[in-house]
Amino acid sequence: MSRGRLISFEGLDGAGKTTQIHLLEQWLTSQQIVYVHTREPGGTPLGVEIRRLLFHHPELVITPLAEAFLFQADRAQHFNTLVLPTLETGTHVITDRCFDSSIAYQGVARGVGVELVSYLSLLATQGHAPDLTIFLDLDPAIVHERTDGRAEHTRFDRENAQFHQKLREAFLKQACTYPERIKVVNAAQTPERIHQEIVLLVADVLSREI
Ligand code: TYD
Repeated sequence: MSRGRLISFEGLDGAGKTTQIHLLEQWLTSQQIVYVHTREPGGTPLGVEIRRLLFHHPELVITPLAEAFLFQADRAQHFNTLVLPTLETGTHVITDRCFDSSIAYQGVARGVGVELVSYLSLLATQGHAPDLTIFLDLDPAIVHERTDGRAEHTRFDRENAQFHQKLREAFLKQACTYPERIKVVNAAQTPERIHQEIVLLVADVLSREI
């Protein structure tokens, strides 16, 4: 039996990840492909608590380095107790965000540094990386319009346009560094068109021998 594949979705808040993950789930189910859907932060019971600390306590001052460690603590628990054991059983894992978010948000936009965040990510994932990362790329101006009416605001929704521009550039740079793993999908297209592109990418990675 071959190991399951790990597929991560990345993008600025409001780039359409939720919609696309939902469409991909429908497709996987229609193909009778078994998968687990999870997310960072918040994919484990500990992660739910870390997520609460990060996003539901606006009164808490969290330094950039402490924030970076909180996301990595969530990830260490996530990989150790859910992601890696699931892949071992041959089941695929779809995760809403993974360490590329840490590189972009904490490493670049928060200024913690890409090298340090990459090193912490390596520890947290025990050296594993997604088999495929889909980066839904969207102009931050459009992203802003989409996130305004959200029920759950993250720590980053209220950051300025420059912050979001930095994030986008960081993700695009990651994609240039790892072109085999990270695929950039233009998220300004219709949801159907984006979904078709994603299905091709996913089908390709699932068909590869490992
Ligand atoms: P989430 O509710 O998943 O929102 P979105 O729909 O935007 O993905 O929020 C997760 C937030 O946490 C998002 O703003 C990105 C941020 N984040 C980091 O800053 N670092 C990380 O390592 C991860 C995984 C997420």
